[in-house]
Amino acid sequence: MRRFIPRAIAAIGAVALLTVGTACSNDREGSGSDSGGNAKGFAKDALVGVALPAKTSENWVLAGDLFTHDLKTAGFKADVAYAGASTTVADQQEQISSMVTKGAKVIVIGATDASQLSTQVAQAKQAGATVIAYDRLITNTPDLDYYIAFDNYKVGRLQGQALLDGMKTKKPQGPWTIELFSGSPDDNNSKVFFGGAMSVLQPLIDKGDIVIGSGQKDIKQTAIQGWKAENAQQRMDSLLTSTYTGGKTLDGVLSPNDTLARAIITSVKSAGKPVPIVTGQDSEVESVKSIMAGEQYSTINKDTRKLVAQTVEMVKALQKGGKPQINDTRSYNNGVKVVPSYLLPPVIVTKENAAEAYASDPKLAPLTK
Ligand code: BGC
Repeated sequence: MRRFIPRAIAAIGAVALLTVGTACSNDREGSGSDSGGNAKGFAKDALVGVALPAKTSENWVLAGDLFTHDLKTAGFKADVAYAGASTTVADQQEQISSMVTKGAKVIVIGATDASQLSTQVAQAKQAGATVIAYDRLITNTPDLDYYIAFDNYKVGRLQGQALLDGMKTKKPQGPWTIELFSGSPDDNNSKVFFGGAMSVLQPLIDKGDIVIGSGQKDIKQTAIQGWKAENAQQRMDSLLTSTYTGGKTLDGVLSPNDTLARAIITSVKSAGKPVPIVTGQDSEVESVKSIMAGEQYSTINKDTRKLVAQTVEMVKALQKGGKPQINDTRSYNNGVKVVPSYLLPPVIVTKENAAEAYASDPKLAPLTK
């Protein structure tokens, strides 16, 4: 089955940066792509660079710790760097260039700004390094070799569905009044999450079953710069003042991640309003607690341990001169090419399935007892 560009995404001006949908994946090694360019492999103790964005959610902190540990355990030297909190793009560009100069054989990048790294990715390619985009696709470059992530379009679809399911539990029949939030505009994932969610919500909006109280449905209006909690809280504060005075009910809020979900809930509670159905993502400790306490409705489990472990497997395959395993060659188009990908399945978590979903997670399992 061919994946397609959903209308919701076209509508938000994604300029065909991704082709996404529900199609099957094709499991095979290497996929016949010329990517990787490492036919001879490299030394077992070679340097591997990992350039991560600012620590805008717990998953990035955990990813850095795991990369440092797992790459060393596999025998590699690891150079793990985070972009600073304010000058993120320039920081990350410098960090990647420095990894190339130091002779890194593989550079794993969680992009701060998807569209601002083509020069550095080209440099890496010229120096013979393989570049893997981690969690966030890097756009507008032919030089990106691989993409590894949880299927982020699916994340968005699960969020949209959870919002609807949650609202139905409180009020079985619509119309339901909602507000929409999306992530930072420089993160390629933001429009992927939003597009996935809107593919579920738009048909109900069209039918009048869902009403966006403020009317703000364009991704430019819903975006939260820098994925910052304070920006989300501020936007929610203004929405409450502009649209929800005089007892008007807000049934649900589409939030793209847990950090923003908690900020939205804080805003609603400070205004003395009942907490609506609020979605999330990342399975952050405070949000799992909030879900168990019956406040935040849902989150997504994208187990960082699995994503890092699979990335390290890719590095090991490259070291041996092989091609890493990929399982998707059609979903993620970066504007120049469809990037060979390894996609893991995200899992929706509500209070109902939290114990099961986190059973193997030593940090989260105790919170669900
Ligand atoms: C990640 C999310 C995360 C967000 C903010 C996204 O690119 O996929 O897991 O919540 O960045 O850090």
